[in-house]
Amino acid sequence: MHLYIVTGSSRGLGAALVQQLSATGNAVIGIARRANPALKAEQWTLDLADPLPAAERLQAWLRANPGWASATLVNNAALLSAPGPLAAADLAELAAALRVGLEAPTLLSRVFLAETGTVPTRRILNISSGLGRRAMAGSAAYCAIKAGLDHLSRALALEVPDVGIVSLAPGVIDTDMQLQLRGADPARFPEQTRFQGLKDGGQLQTAEATATAIIQFLARSDFGKTIVADIRDA
Ligand SMILES: NC(=O)c1ccc[n+]([C@@H]2O[C@H](COP(=O)([O-])OP(=O)(O)OC[C@H]3O[C@@H](n4cnc5c(N)ncnc54)[C@H](OP(=O)(O)O)[C@@H]3O)[C@@H](O)[C@H]2O)c1
Repeated sequence: MHLYIVTGSSRGLGAALVQQLSATGNAVIGIARRANPALKAEQWTLDLADPLPAAERLQAWLRANPGWASATLVNNAALLSAPGPLAAADLAELAAALRVGLEAPTLLSRVFLAETGTVPTRRILNISSGLGRRAMAGSAAYCAIKAGLDHLSRALALEVPDVGIVSLAPGVIDTDMQLQLRGADPARFPEQTRFQGLKDGGQLQTAEATATAIIQFLARSDFGKTIVADIRDA
């Protein structure tokens, strides 16, 4: 039996990943603040802005449930603080975004690596962004979070070469996150018009198509060979 742990499972890309992974008979645990009633998988309703209890719950669960043929952690959850200059950001919102986007993946990876040592095939997929590689005004914290995920992945790959580790930019996906970007105030967020143009130009992928491409990517025999990757190049 193959185990997948997917954060940010309630909607968007995470929900599509959970739906497709559970439909093919895998054991899937989704983690988000809300459950999605349409999903058949086990769902843990946890706030990853408080990641320590989530990591401790995963630790206890993995200890109690050994024996997987493979185990995969997908750090997908992200929380976008309101687009705009860092100096104007709400402090609590900014702290939550950093915790969900970088602290939670680090703690969950720590637990996953420690508790799955006997599992023959292990993978960590961090969902990054082109913005981890290209700076953009109006989302400095998000850029830093995604660059952090890329570098966390590079460093972990040195520590655990037997584990497939990839930080993957998933392309531009038609989810709530895009809605938030194109709904932002252009006076605070000059790139708003670019995001509106992507939607108007029909350039957004569906979450379902992106999830299918990511699941195919996970199954590749060379998964982990390129640590910082982009699904559009795969
Ligand atoms: N959409 C794009 O164009 C795009 C582009 C590049 C990269 N990405 C990346 O792709 C991933 C998925 O993005 P998406 O577009 O699907 O985002 P989304 O539609 O905004 O969904 C975000 C998911 O994260 C969960 N989440 C947010 N805050 C959380 C918290 N405090 N605790 C637990 N879960 C939380 C949400 O669930 P709850 O609200 O129920 O907690 C939701 O399931 C993210 O890492 C994002 O940065 C997206």
